[in-house]
Amino acid sequence: MTVRKVLRMGEPLLLTIAEPVTEFNNRELDALIIDMRETMAACDGAGLAAPQIGVPLRVVIFGIDHNPRYPDVEPITETILINPQIEAVGNETDSAWEGCLSVPGMRGLVPRHTHIRYRGMNQKGEEIIRQASHFHARVVQHECDHLDGVLYPQRITDMRHFGFTEELFSENSAGNPSMPCETEK
Ligand code: NI
Repeated sequence: MTVRKVLRMGEPLLLTIAEPVTEFNNRELDALIIDMRETMAACDGAGLAAPQIGVPLRVVIFGIDHNPRYPDVEPITETILINPQIEAVGNETDSAWEGCLSVPGMRGLVPRHTHIRYRGMNQKGEEIIRQASHFHARVVQHECDHLDGVLYPQRITDMRHFGFTEELFSENSAGNPSMPCETEK
């Protein structure tokens, strides 16, 4: 078990297209997932993608416990999702603040599909098929973007809504109240 270094924006590995996992239920994959889980927990994050620790495979993990500080955010069961595919359900989108362990100290307002269906495998090669909405859907879209070399700043449509967390959400700021963001504290 190792807490791995999280790569930061500017590192070319974050821009590459990750490869599908072809073999399941083996020690190598299990070890990767243990490291990802440890790293996510150490960073107090809600999600992490393998490319963020320099492993170019299509593996993401995410999950969030109920947090009394954020009563409006639904808990998400910890999920390991391999070779994920996402499709939008309907055309609705919404915008919310996101952060990323690879973009520390910053937040941006990002539009995402409100409702999605996603599928993939767990580390045993068992299929996962789910529908998700709102924050859960946002986390999955954010994490899966990492597998295609996309970081959330590329999704921001109005760059005025991108900045340092401390400035955006300071007490004197006219900005929106803070909300928890995937992959960051
Ligand atoms: Ni991220």
